[in-house]
Amino acid sequence: MLHISTLAIMINMVILVSMHNRSFNLIDIHSHILPGIDDGSRSMSMSIEMAKQAVQIGITHMICTPHIHPGYFDNDDSSIKPVFSDLQQALIREKVPLTLTYGAEVRVSEQIPEWISNNEIPFLGRFNSKKVLLLEMPHSHVPVGIEMLIKWLLSKNVLPVIAHPERNRELLAEPWKLDHLRRTNAIFQLTAGSVTGRFGEKVQAFSRSLVRSKKIDIVASDTHNLTKRPNDMGIAYDFVSSIDQEFAKKVFFITPSQIVSSSNDF
Ligand SMILES: [Fe+2]
Repeated sequence: MLHISTLAIMINMVILVSMHNRSFNLIDIHSHILPGIDDGSRSMSMSIEMAKQAVQIGITHMICTPHIHPGYFDNDDSSIKPVFSDLQQALIREKVPLTLTYGAEVRVSEQIPEWISNNEIPFLGRFNSKKVLLLEMPHSHVPVGIEMLIKWLLSKNVLPVIAHPERNRELLAEPWKLDHLRRTNAIFQLTAGSVTGRFGEKVQAFSRSLVRSKKIDIVASDTHNLTKRPNDMGIAYDFVSSIDQEFAKKVFFITPSQIVSSSNDF
């Protein structure tokens, strides 16, 4: 027999799908919704409002991905897990129909091989049987050795999802370098606000060219708060689907859903 709260969530999902004129929900694999552990949400009440904002857009599953950035945000699985559990409980209490799992957004660092070997980093889920790692480059440049790192990760059965390549200044100036990175078999996540102009005209133009040439694999929010970095996935979906509906379904739903369907394997 279906539990009454499960039934309520299912009804909500049906309403949301019809509200947004899509035959599927959106899945967000990149967010800074966990309170107080990075530069994202500042409080539990803010996190709950961010979750409600996501639900309004039609998002049904969000992966919490706080920064792991040595010297700035020294998170690891043990610091993320309790905060994640608190938010998960709060959403149940507040009856917000958003499923949460967690991973992390890991800044490129020479410590990554050690962290992977010691199982210190939470993964997002699996994709084509590989464990998925959300990997962040510096915004200023493409770090020397990143191709070697990607190859090493793949050899350890870890698939890097490169976060927001469209915001990297070296790739903006020399877009052909993204083609080089794509040859490594890593996959690439575009940030929703980039196509809507939140990061300026250059980033917007580059993002739109990446959508048109299908050089990105996933779109996610990278939401940090309710106002300056809100969840832009709804507007971004409208843009991408106006270019190619099947591609929009793939990057907002099919690929993310494959990752989250195995997110409790770890
Ligand atoms: Fe992020």
